[in-house]
Amino acid sequence: MSWLQARLARNFVQGCRVFSSSAPARWPTGANVLAKTLTRRRTFASSVAFWGTAFALATGFTVSTIHLDAEVPPSPAEDETRVDPATSIAFPTTLKIQSKTPLPTFTLMGVGVRTVSFLGIKVYSVGFYADLSNPNLAIPKDATAEEKIEYIVKSSACVLRIVPTRNTSYGHLRDGFMRALQARQVLSKQRGELTPEEELAIQSPLRKLKSMFPNTPLTKHSPLDILATAPSPKQPRTLIVRDLGSVQSDWLAREFILAYFEGKGLSPPLKQSVIEYVETHL
Ligand SMILES: *[C@@H]1O[C@H](CO)[C@@H](O)[C@H](O)[C@H]1NC(C)=O
Repeated sequence: MSWLQARLARNFVQGCRVFSSSAPARWPTGANVLAKTLTRRRTFASSVAFWGTAFALATGFTVSTIHLDAEVPPSPAEDETRVDPATSIAFPTTLKIQSKTPLPTFTLMGVGVRTVSFLGIKVYSVGFYADLSNPNLAIPKDATAEEKIEYIVKSSACVLRIVPTRNTSYGHLRDGFMRALQARQVLSKQRGELTPEEELAIQSPLRKLKSMFPNTPLTKHSPLDILATAPSPKQPRTLIVRDLGSVQSDWLAREFILAYFEGKGLSPPLKQSVIEYVETHL
C-alpha cells in the first residue's frame, strides 16, 4: 500500500487500539503481539466497513478498500493520546476517518467527563475534535474563546467521541441527547433563531435520530463517535452516529455539538479544556 494509506491506516488503528486493549502497556511486547495485531486488524476492518456504510448512506460516497497486509511500526508523533484525568480514558490527539472522498484529519481540542449532577456519577468521557485544517476557517482573532468555539462548530466538520466509563445502554445515551436537543430548541426559539417553519422542519430529523439508537447495551470503554459534516451550499450538514446511521439537518448537526458548549456545558471540564486549547493555540 502507499505511504499515505499506510499512514492513514496506522492512525485509524491507533484510534481503535486505545479502546480495544485492556493491557496496561499500550505497546505490547513478546508473544501476545501477534494476537493483538489480529484483533486490531479485525477491529479496523469492521470500523472501516461501518464508516463506509454511513458515508455511503449520507453522501453517496463509496469507500476504498484498505489492506493492512503488513504491521506498521508506530511512530511516536502519531501515537499521541490525551488522557481524561477524571476517568483515565485516553483519546488520540488526531482522528482520521477513512472514506473514498477524503475526510480531513480531526484535531483533538479538549476532553472532559460527563457527570450525572445529583449523584456525581461519571457517565462518560468525551473528546471534541474539529477540522482545524479547513481553509475556510477564518477564526476571528479578536473574538472570545467561546465565540471562537461557536465559530468552529458552525464552520467546520467536527466529531464528538463519547466513551462510557461503565456498561450502559444506547437508550440511556439517546435520552440524554434528546433532552439536550429539546433544550436547544427552547433556547433557539427564545433567541429568535428558530422560526415556526424551521421548528416544524426539524421534527422529522429529530425523530430519525431518536429511532437510530438500538435497545442494546453499550459496553464500558467502547467509543461512540458522532460526526457533523462541514456546512456546504449544496446540501444540509449530516450528523453521523457511528455504527447507527445518519441524519441530514443543518440545525441538528450544529446544535448537537453546540449543546456541549452552552452555559457551563454538558461536561464543564470538556468546555474548560476546549477553551484552554483555543486560548493557547488559536
Ligand atoms: C459489561 O459488559 C460486558 C459485555 O457485555 C461484560 O462482559 C461485563 O461483564 C460487563 N461488566 C459489568 C461490570 O457488568
